[in-house]
Order: sequence, then structure tokens, then C-alpha cells
Amino acid sequence: MRQLIAGNWKMHGMGGEAAALAGAIRAGAAGLACDLLVCPPFTQLVPVAGMLAGSTVAVGGQDCHAEAKGAHTGDISAAMLADAGARFVILGHSERRANHGETDAGVRAKAVAAIAAGLTPIVCVGETEAERTAGWETGVVGGQLSGSLPEGFSGVVAYEPVWAIGTGKTATEDDVAAMHGFIRQALVRQLGEAGSLVRILYGGSVRPANASVLLAVPEVGGALVGGASLVAEDFLAIARAARPG
Ligand code: PGA
Repeated sequence: MRQLIAGNWKMHGMGGEAAALAGAIRAGAAGLACDLLVCPPFTQLVPVAGMLAGSTVAVGGQDCHAEAKGAHTGDISAAMLADAGARFVILGHSERRANHGETDAGVRAKAVAAIAAGLTPIVCVGETEAERTAGWETGVVGGQLSGSLPEGFSGVVAYEPVWAIGTGKTATEDDVAAMHGFIRQALVRQLGEAGSLVRILYGGSVRPANASVLLAVPEVGGALVGGASLVAEDFLAIARAARPG
């Protein structure tokens, strides 16, 4: 399976910056041996999707509401994301779990809505530093998987240890291999044969300098990249490090 290199722009990108970044990524994307995705903030979805139309780079949202429409001030539905040109949506990112009180059950409902709207959900899981120090990482991640993935889930899972996000620290190759192997087993137990087809991304301080090592780890199906996805040359360098599928 081709690896997926996904950029999570988080709350970055005024119109000019977003257009410049999308244009540079489009220009460098042709011929890469991986799938590419960028997830700009909501306000830049329509222009970025327009700029990337007809290219090999897909566009995604960073969150959606579980309902299709209604009185939900400030929220965006999965169908609205699809209408804006998105094909993917990141769900349950640790920043949303921490800052917006998102629960596994809430993420699960959003995943159902995303799939119903024709989007591919990218469901994020990962332990905090304290949980890893206590030796609870597989228990935490296992619980997030069973709570956040609906029956019949089809999509992507991103393993993002919270302590590695934006910190410059990454999990070791051995830790990534152990966790991705654990996630694969959990997915197959939970989803049957379909669980073997789910791409499992690694996220947390992925940079050009560590990408080829992380992307070579068994069961790593790509990367979810935050900070380095805001610099086109870095994002493309990570994409060039992907293992041909
Ligand atoms: P980072 O963010 O690459 O800046 O660590 C990753 C993420 O939060 O998805």
C-alpha cells in the first residue's frame, strides 16, 4: 500500500501563505511514490482545494461535527467539508481531545458522519508522557481505538504520542514498531480482514532528518506532519522519504 504523507496545517495560513504553500507543494508533488494530503484551516479549504484540483495532492479538514446540519454555531459538517473539496478529515487530534474535551464516543460519532459524507477519516490516538512513563501506552491506545472507531470503520489511523507533538522528540524506531504492531493487531481484532487494510500513520515531530527512518518501520503507513508541513520543501522532502508501496 502506498504511504500517505499528510500535512496538518493547524491554525496557520492566511490567504497568501496558504496559496504559496499549496502552489509549491503542487509543483513538487508530481511523480512521488506516495499519496499526499494537506489539511488547511477551514477558511482556506475552498481556495486550496481549487489550487490543487487536478493534481495528485488531496485536501482534508481538521475536524467536523457529527451532525449533518443544524443549530451548531461555529461548527462545520462533514458534508460541508466534502462540498468544499475535502476528501479526508482529521478526527480526535490530541489538541482537540485536550482543548475541546473531545471523547472517544464523540470521535466515533464524527467518524460515522465523515464516512457517510464520503470522506476518509483520519482518527488520531496516542498516549501522554505520563501514561507512557507509567507503562500504560498500549492500554490507552487500545482503549482509544475501541472507543473511537465505529463498526465497519474504513479510513486511516494516526498514532501520535502526545509528548512528541511539536516538541522535536520522536518515539524510537523500536517504540514505533511495537506500537504500530499493537495497533495493527487491535484493528484486525476489531474490524476483521478490513483491519489489515487501514493505513497507520505516525505523527509527532516528523522532519526531513528523521522521516526515512520512521517511514521504514514496519506497519508505518505514512506520516501526519504538523510543523514541517508548513514549509513546502520540508514537506516534500518527507514525501520523498516515503517507502514505495
Ligand atoms: P508536529 O505535529 O509534526 O508539529 O509534531 C504533528 C501533529 O500534531 O499532527
